[in-house]
Amino acid sequence: MKPVPIGILGSGKGSNFRAILERIRSGDLAAEARLVVSDVLDAPILDIAREFGVPNAYLPPGRFRTRLEPQTEQQLVRMLRDAGVELVALAGFMRVLHEPMLKAFPRRIINIHPSLLPKFPGLEAWKQALAAGEEVTGCTVHYVDEKIDHGQILAQREVAILPNDTPESLHSRIQMLEHELYPAVIAELCERLP
Ligand code: GRF
Repeated sequence: MKPVPIGILGSGKGSNFRAILERIRSGDLAAEARLVVSDVLDAPILDIAREFGVPNAYLPPGRFRTRLEPQTEQQLVRMLRDAGVELVALAGFMRVLHEPMLKAFPRRIINIHPSLLPKFPGLEAWKQALAAGEEVTGCTVHYVDEKIDHGQILAQREVAILPNDTPESLHSRIQMLEHELYPAVIAELCERLP
């Protein structure tokens, strides 16, 4: 099978991106990381891209805090198209996407979120689950739409919350599962892409 060209957007440490690259390397994921874009100049995800020799770019986000300027989002579409990207994976990208991206890549943008959506969308979802006294939380991979951490759910994994869990211990167990789930879902989608 021909590897599917994927693009990755991230603002932070990039551990999910690393897991994706490792799965590509081991031959379990028929994809090719064509471009990584970050809205944060010194984001570690860009260092990982350099380490693995993946083309990467910093996209100055403009004056908004939670979204891109419309013309910046248009620019992002052009960058991804120029790179031949067919599937976009958000990996810790801290901005909500709008029409330019959603129209350009319909049902081709996915996200991973550290909770069992629809529970606990938004920031620090593992802390939200702890504070709510949940016994189980987890992670979700879903298609991206115009709402935050919303859109059709593709897959979920559960994580038990232990009595002595701290936000850090819980987050780290969720992330371990994310690193299995996200590449697996991407692999499945890549196989099914027309
Ligand atoms: C992950 O926990 C993901 O669920 C959320 O952002 C975090 C990104 O982590 N959307 P990393 O940058 O992949 O380490």
